[in-house]
Amino acid sequence: VESPVAPIRILPGLGIDVLDQTRLPQAEVRLRLTTVEGACESIAALRVRGAPLLGIVGAATLAVAATELGSAERVLRDAAARISATRPTAVDLGKVTTQALSVALAVPEGPARTARLWANAEAVLARQFEADRALSAFGAPLIGAGAAVLTHCNTGALATGGYGTALGVIRAAFEDRRLVRCYATETRPLLQGARLTMWELARAGIAATLLPDTAAAALIASGTVDAVIVGADRIAANGDTANKVGTYGLALAAARHGVPFYIAAPLTTFDPATRHGAAIPIEFRAASEVGGFAGQRWTPDGADSYNPAFDVTPTDLITAFITERGILRPPFSAAIARTLAAEAVDAGRAAAEVS
Ligand code: MRU
Repeated sequence: VESPVAPIRILPGLGIDVLDQTRLPQAEVRLRLTTVEGACESIAALRVRGAPLLGIVGAATLAVAATELGSAERVLRDAAARISATRPTAVDLGKVTTQALSVALAVPEGPARTARLWANAEAVLARQFEADRALSAFGAPLIGAGAAVLTHCNTGALATGGYGTALGVIRAAFEDRRLVRCYATETRPLLQGARLTMWELARAGIAATLLPDTAAAALIASGTVDAVIVGADRIAANGDTANKVGTYGLALAAARHGVPFYIAAPLTTFDPATRHGAAIPIEFRAASEVGGFAGQRWTPDGADSYNPAFDVTPTDLITAFITERGILRPPFSAAIARTLAAEAVDAGRAAAEVS
């Protein structure tokens, strides 16, 4: 099955074919990534982005490393460390890359190991598609008939390689004829909402309204939206959730006005090793991204900036998590631990069947 927008295609033995998301929506430019250097540049520049897609790109880049540089353990370990460090907040990148490394090291060095890495990358992409479909089906009934929802950043097929997480839920609710309108924040400073979410919503034929981030609290206060649904980059063991900067403010406004606030994320985005939000590493990006866009600059010389790419929403502001194993309700620590344990049992069983 192919994603509605195919942000990534894995070409075993050849490279990774990606849609350059920095060029959307004006141009649909595809790039062929054949080096670790090139793939890391694409990750850092947000040509590929979104937590689940970053995991897939991480696994595929390790396959690129084996093809480009050889499959020796030291080479792969170095490449995995480099890939994982490129963007620190989205846990999928490091986690899925490290899993790919273990899968590779279970096979003797040489062509078989390289082939195993490519097959693993293809399997990771296929699993994401299934997870997206499952979580979207679980989440859609949370949207009431005739509802309007608000979302932030981009969590669609572009961000996952599959069907989307929060935007997957929105798409499924629209297909069920319940959702009537999706409000999308523009998502300053890199405009993932304005450029990418609005593009995906238009392609899906979903009625969409764009708003400046600064208008979101007033929109929620006006009673226009029935729910806020966003994605996640890393969910700590207690449910504290890192997502695109601005998410925390949306959660505060939703709580103040009694609007449900949902996080839709696959289980790969849960990080039980991180106990709470304060331990989540937050990526800070260049001042130039706040002071200008696409080659234009509007700040005076030397302007200081504060440009975190993510913020952390405390667990008590979250109504529920929408995952491929169902809806998790508070108390979240227990629900998350139980769900991840059940997932680990099933993964162990599947691995035993393969070997
Ligand atoms: O900086 P980005 O564009 O990679 O940030 C993406 C987000 O914050 C998404 O909401 C998150 O990764 C979930 S994607 C399904």
